[in-house]
Amino acid sequence: MTLIEDLMIRKVLDSRGNPTVEVDIYTTSGFGRFSSPSGASTGVHEAVALPEGKVELAIERFESEVIPRISGMDAVFQEEVDGALHEADGTVGFSSIGANVAVATSIAVAKAAASALDLPLYRYLGGMMANRLPRPFGNLIGGGRHARGGTTIQEFLCVARGPTVADSIEANALAHRRVGEKLGKRLPDVALAKGDEGAWVAPLKDEEALAILAETCSEIESEMGFQCRPALDMAASEFFRRGKYVYADRSLEPDKQIEFVARLVEEYGLCSVEDPLDQDDFEGFAGLTEAVGKKCLVVGDDLFVTDVDRIAQGVEKGAGNAVLIKPNQVGTLTDTLLAVDYAHQHGYKTVISHRSGETTDDAIAHLAVAFGCEGIKTGAVGGERTAKLNELIRIEEELT
Ligand code: PGA
Ligand code: ZN
Repeated sequence: MTLIEDLMIRKVLDSRGNPTVEVDIYTTSGFGRFSSPSGASTGVHEAVALPEGKVELAIERFESEVIPRISGMDAVFQEEVDGALHEADGTVGFSSIGANVAVATSIAVAKAAASALDLPLYRYLGGMMANRLPRPFGNLIGGGRHARGGTTIQEFLCVARGPTVADSIEANALAHRRVGEKLGKRLPDVALAKGDEGAWVAPLKDEEALAILAETCSEIESEMGFQCRPALDMAASEFFRRGKYVYADRSLEPDKQIEFVARLVEEYGLCSVEDPLDQDDFEGFAGLTEAVGKKCLVVGDDLFVTDVDRIAQGVEKGAGNAVLIKPNQVGTLTDTLLAVDYAHQHGYKTVISHRSGETTDDAIAHLAVAFGCEGIKTGAVGGERTAKLNELIRIEEELT
């Protein structure tokens, strides 16, 4: 039933129109498909997609290295399949077969096993205890690497906590629309744009954008009658230059950056702040966690890159209290699960995440439930984002 009989790879497009790889896995009575997303503000410690901008070599490597090893294996032995992917690669960061090929194969295999066993992916991976839905983090205003002409900070998000995930998703989308209306009134002569993740892009200073975000969250909170809190993904490594965090209107030394972020948490009631400091500044993360960690998630994305050794360093130093989980940062489901388990065992929360270049695949909605993640970052609007949000709504329906 679950023996892998056939594997295929093809070139498809992601949401930026860039080529990416899609893998199909056929077992005796199951089928699984996954296409790899890609980041723009990638961390330097991430596993690498292969090769830069061209997927032909990745396809060749899949055919020569992956097919001979994986065909005939049993799809339910995920660890063995993922081990074979590491063997096929032979490097530390999947630089030979590409983390895009690895993650597409790994998740497609899990989907094929789930399909052969006639189980939804979240149930197959998470077992009977997978019954909790994550809180959706909706990206409303953006800049950084995801857009030109926007804020320095990459993402301004609304985190709704409704009675159901469907309510939260609706609140985030409403907040997105409200921000668009506010920007239209405030900048009547400016052509508004949307960034890679569907967030509004406008010529705003970072704190102006944050004030609009916070005001919107509080309006939506009163209208919906449940909590809607502002959050940031600063992606600070992208504007850390020669020892300083360089914004449009200020330039801050690391200790001043910690004070600045701590003030934003207090003043605007942020419930989560991701990558507030450079990707190697474990000490800075620890300082900020000490200052605001009791009231706010301090999330490491580029800091941890879903890597268990880097999370262990964070735990040892008290850096952050939450880990962003992106399967394509490590390349396999087994490595992703190791990172999630390690984080949870050490009292860290997890937030699973899309990438800025996405496909319409909805597997991360299932992974969020299977892993028991606290949150899911997958945008507020846009086809490839709503594919995942709508799947969460369907999963919730099944669970209730
Ligand atoms: P990326 O952005 O996919 O471009 O890396 C998402 C994030 O930083 O969380
Ligand atoms: Zn991030």
